[in-house]
Amino acid sequence: MKEALKGNIVHAPVLGELSIVERGYLLLEDGVIAGIEQTLPQGYDGVVRDYGERLILQSFADMHLHAPQYPMLGMGMDLPLMEWLQRYTFRTEARFADLAYARRIYRRLASDLITNGTTRVCMFSSLHTEATWILMEELEKAGVTGYVGKVNMDRNGAPGILEETTEESERETLRWLEGCHFEHIKPILTPRFTPSCSDELMGWLGQLAEERGLYVQSHLSESAGEIELVARLHPECQRYWQTYEKHGLWKDHTLMAHCVHSDAVERQAMKDHNVVVVHCADSNINISSGICPVKKMLQEGLWVTLGSDIAGGAQLPMYRVITTTIRTSKVRQIMDDWKTDFLTVAEGYYLGTTAGHRYFGAGAGFAVGDPLHAVVLDDSDFVEATRPLSVAERFERAMYMTHRHNITAVWSEGRCVVER
Ligand code: GUN
Ligand code: FE
Repeated sequence: MKEALKGNIVHAPVLGELSIVERGYLLLEDGVIAGIEQTLPQGYDGVVRDYGERLILQSFADMHLHAPQYPMLGMGMDLPLMEWLQRYTFRTEARFADLAYARRIYRRLASDLITNGTTRVCMFSSLHTEATWILMEELEKAGVTGYVGKVNMDRNGAPGILEETTEESERETLRWLEGCHFEHIKPILTPRFTPSCSDELMGWLGQLAEERGLYVQSHLSESAGEIELVARLHPECQRYWQTYEKHGLWKDHTLMAHCVHSDAVERQAMKDHNVVVVHCADSNINISSGICPVKKMLQEGLWVTLGSDIAGGAQLPMYRVITTTIRTSKVRQIMDDWKTDFLTVAEGYYLGTTAGHRYFGAGAGFAVGDPLHAVVLDDSDFVEATRPLSVAERFERAMYMTHRHNITAVWSEGRCVVER
């Protein structure tokens, strides 16, 4: 089926550069991008969806969030990471043994994600197998695509509340993988982080990743207290990343959330192994972890993506996460005595879209041959400006000012999954 979406198209094929086609046509064939044109091809025989003056933007990729922390959104951000986990987080995640509760929360989360334009995710579930399947099913039904992981954690959890034995963790991981047959939501191995996983479990997961060709997601160098604990638990490793590397978990496409305190050596190890940084600016400030040197990472050529890190982060919409990322880069500039640059809006947009979509095999921006992942944004209720705005200005304002109701259509994997 041939379709053409008409509107003001703004995408980011290259870091720091916007590509804009005003009143253009995004051509689709069976949901796959066939081209972007200023005018319709002669004799065009497809269906035209006319979005008028609206903006047609890339949809967002949230590369790190914790689904079972959604109920604690906006609460309990008065403690640093290790204390925050023990006081609030583990208890909240433990609730997901209750499958009726899991269904309600995960249905709400899936709906909130898609209506805010997040069409691709890499997500942590809890350690519960059944609830993880429910999460995957609800995301699939809502039109969200990507990876979900049943969490592995066999030490330093909350014994009797939220912790597995090594044997349970391995057995449940295999059982969980057996039950994953969703079309658009795939499994990813998810050792919570080094303090939560014994060497035996990490080694077993590394082997499983290798045998089954699975990707891995975890956390790295987020906070000072965590880094000290890892150093105590692993005197044999000079740096945190080596606790993953020694078990085969430090490899191409491994997602590492945070990396706030990764030094030059750790950052080089990421680059060398194509490990992906997931920067979570809102979370890093909420639980006082630190200010990540994102601009420096980009200059060093690292693959940096963005995550909401719900519920360390308290903002689910990625357009908010993008602007918080930009603000935080300015805090970093101030901390660095004005020696580093801040992120531009075009850079923030790239990180929240193209950089994440690439993880799933997509090309740059709205690339020909990719199934469409897009949002249509109606900014007509924003305050009247002093003069007519360019599309670039409207785009900038949309990043900062959008509310959910401004997103009037969402396309995910070539399907229109939200329309209002
Ligand atoms: N490190 C280990 N678990 C977590 C978590 O749930 N949230 C964050 N922000 N960091 C973690
Ligand atoms: Fe996290």
